[in-house]
Amino acid sequence: MLIEIVNLNKSYRGGIQALQDVNLKIDSGMFGLLGPNGAGKSTLMKILATLEIPSSGNIKIDQLDLTLQRKQVRASLGYLPQFFGVYPQMSGYEFLYFIAQLNGVPRKKIHSRVMETLEDVALANARDRKVKTYSGGMVRRLGIAQALIHDPKLLIVDEPTVGLDPEERIRFRNLLSTIGKNKVIILSTHIVGDISSTCDDLAILSQGKIVYWGSPATLIQKAKSKSWVVECPEEAYSEIAAHMQIISTIPSSGMLQMRVVGEPVRGFHFAPVKANLEDAYMNFMEEQTGERVDEDMLQEAK
Ligand SMILES: Nc1ncnc2c1ncn2[C@@H]1O[C@H](COP(=O)(O)OP(=O)(O)OP(=O)(O)O)[C@@H](O)[C@H]1O
Ligand SMILES: [Mg+2]
Repeated sequence: MLIEIVNLNKSYRGGIQALQDVNLKIDSGMFGLLGPNGAGKSTLMKILATLEIPSSGNIKIDQLDLTLQRKQVRASLGYLPQFFGVYPQMSGYEFLYFIAQLNGVPRKKIHSRVMETLEDVALANARDRKVKTYSGGMVRRLGIAQALIHDPKLLIVDEPTVGLDPEERIRFRNLLSTIGKNKVIILSTHIVGDISSTCDDLAILSQGKIVYWGSPATLIQKAKSKSWVVECPEEAYSEIAAHMQIISTIPSSGMLQMRVVGEPVRGFHFAPVKANLEDAYMNFMEEQTGERVDEDMLQEAK
């Protein structure tokens, strides 16, 4: 499968340009789309899912033109929106049955397809429970199930781990990487940790523009020799924070243990550490766009 996005622009009413001249090629495995709030991630996802129309530009999915051949394109993709609503009174089984009907799964095959998909997302045991009794993680997995019910080649998931506890988040990431062995997945997130372990390729969107497109390893390479840990008194926090990016802070007996990125401030002992994707993202955003990353992006990544 090959997705080619050429000179894509999207303006909303009121003059907001949500996407500016976006060019990307996405071919196999898992593709991560990273960016802060309002960067344009959901807009790009909705356009790929054929739910928003581009203002200009071209998108081809396996040679099919996304705007001219919407019906064929729709048949080959599944989409989990950022805000996924369920019918709380239905059971998981009933919900998926309903979605399978809507997606044109042949009637005779619906039962087996629903059972198979429930199995794939580890909800088989909960299939007869009303969806309103599901945990947040279970609802997200049901969201993946509804996107997969017609066995699409491409899965588009928009911020799928928001609101999940750390255990569910890891479980969810593992589920996606299993699915990614046979399908192309495009995953958007503002949480760096969602991308680090799983994605083959990633792009960073910032204010509607693609500012990075490549492998996680190449991004990490750009932050080489810029990651440090430092122990300092609490009073020194603001001095260091004024010159470097703080990745994490752990207080310990009146001192602070900090992980930081950037040029070391004089007067403290900085011990070098190997850069990870969080460090690299912080470093890149600061260098390229002058944007400071939301602290929650990193908090949630832990
Ligand atoms: N339907 C709409 N009408 C007008 N403006 C919109 C609409 N949808 C999004 N926008 C604007 O377009 C820009 C990009 O929004 P989008 O939702 O694509 O960002 P995002 O990266 O998904 O953000 P988040 O991380 O908060 O989900 C924002 O400035 C947003 O306010
Ligand atoms: Mg969004």
